[in-house]
Amino acid sequence: MGQMMTGQGVFALVVIVNCHIFVSSHNSAERLYNDLLLNYTKGVRPGTDYNHSLNVELFLTVSTLLEINAVDKIMSVNGFFNMLWRDERLQWNKTEYDGHSSILIDPSLLWTPRILLINPARRFQVFGTYSSEVRVQFDGYVFWVAGDMIETNCNINIRNYPFDIQTCDISITPFGYTENEVNLSVSFSTQFTEFPLGNGEWDHVQTTTTDWSLSVYNVSNFTLQYKRKHHFVLTNIIEPVLILNVISLAVFRIPPNCGERISFAITVFLSYIVFLTIITDNIPKTSSPMSLLSLYLIAKVSVSACITVSTVFIVQVSHKSPRTPIPERILYLLAKSNKMQNAEPKWADNDGNKLDNTRTRTKSGRAELITGEDEGRGSSLSTHCSHIGSKQPTWEEVAIYFDRVLFFFFLSVMLLFTVLLFTFICTNLRTGDI
Ligand SMILES: *[C@@H]1O[C@H](CO)[C@@H](O)[C@H](O)[C@H]1NC(C)=O
Ligand SMILES: *[C@@H]1O[C@H](CO)[C@@H](O)[C@H](O)[C@H]1NC(C)=O
Ligand SMILES: *[C@@H]1O[C@H](CO)[C@@H](O)[C@H](O)[C@H]1NC(C)=O
Ligand SMILES: *[C@@H]1O[C@H](CO)[C@@H](O)[C@H](O)[C@H]1NC(C)=O
Ligand SMILES: *[C@@H]1O[C@H](CO)[C@@H](O)[C@H](O)[C@H]1NC(C)=O
Repeated sequence: MGQMMTGQGVFALVVIVNCHIFVSSHNSAERLYNDLLLNYTKGVRPGTDYNHSLNVELFLTVSTLLEINAVDKIMSVNGFFNMLWRDERLQWNKTEYDGHSSILIDPSLLWTPRILLINPARRFQVFGTYSSEVRVQFDGYVFWVAGDMIETNCNINIRNYPFDIQTCDISITPFGYTENEVNLSVSFSTQFTEFPLGNGEWDHVQTTTTDWSLSVYNVSNFTLQYKRKHHFVLTNIIEPVLILNVISLAVFRIPPNCGERISFAITVFLSYIVFLTIITDNIPKTSSPMSLLSLYLIAKVSVSACITVSTVFIVQVSHKSPRTPIPERILYLLAKSNKMQNAEPKWADNDGNKLDNTRTRTKSGRAELITGEDEGRGSSLSTHCSHIGSKQPTWEEVAIYFDRVLFFFFLSVMLLFTVLLFTFICTNLRTGDI
């Protein structure tokens, strides 16, 4: 019983003491608040010695990257400026106010630096609309956080798309104060806090800060660097285009007299166009400068158009009437290609022995061609070609010949473009951009 009483007594005492402390601390906080603001003139900047500028230490916390817009050349981020300065008028003796070492005051009641964004994308912006209470410490140090959406004008270059790195500046100045009055110093290293979701398109690389002056004004630059995540473009644009390349060359492997060739070539051409239309949505729509990838795709569409036209031409050739004579030039080319296909280069300037040996191994027609070439360099082409075989080559053979030539021509064009593209990709890989 006695023990219980004691217990209750202690409990009551604790409650009373707690309440007393609470009431007293509440009173002292209110007293401190009123005392601090009693003779405070908000419009006058801090500093007892106006011959020295007020130093405002500032650092930027970027929470999210919203967008990098290549067309309008805008970078938008959500961020806040953390500012620290000293206001001598806001000092107090801790022991006189029950040990209170800091207090929060509404920013509209105190002097705060007005930070102006000088390279805005749309209109000038002074930070402070979304701001915290001002935290004042007993020795006069004041800490304030002001955040907003920051949209800056940014020179975006998508030439290396999708391996591009964009660098954008956020330039700020204390609005209206010259550098002799307020000095912004970005002594803290800028923090970059990317909230867990991050950005789907960009990776943050680094942030640097620089101080410089614009006439009499003190300006600080925060330079943000972002690297594009390129895997999406690689798998959804570059890979399908490479596959389409192979398909578009396959048209030259369909027999030339088959009319289906034209529909095949046109289908491939159309799928290029459909594909281009779809992927244009994924490529930044700007032309200063164009991205190399867009140029590559446009080159591919042109090549596909040329393939379609060549196919029509070959089908037309293979359907020519057999009575139409084959021009001599074509016959000459045919003979030359036959020779190159069947003969080894050294046969051209060989002695009789070697020729005889090979002749026994080769088909008679081919050997005859070589003999013809050997003895009759000056002879007319028509006799030369009629010498090849007893029968004239048909238009179909001409078409097959063109088919082969064009196949290798377009193959090398495609390979050239693709090698250029991959050289570009690999250069970017090696320079560590990826
Ligand atoms: C405020 O100013 C008045 C008159 O100038 C002065 O009497 C008073 O002590 C000042 N109060 C504080 C807290 O400085
Ligand atoms: C500020 O500078 C002026 C001229 O240089 C000088 O006369 C004045 O005493 C200085 N004021 C203080 C508070 O040092
Ligand atoms: C703060 O106030 C206490 C009590 O009034 C006093 O003893 C002490 O010297 C003061 N401290 C300062 C730094 O003025
Ligand atoms: C700071 O940023 C602005 C705007 O982008 C730019 O014009 C200026 O050259 C930059 N200054 C420095 C020192 O980087
Ligand atoms: C501004 O602050 C920086 C760093 O604190 C300092 O180096 C510079 O001299 C200051 N400028 C003026 C005008 O006080």
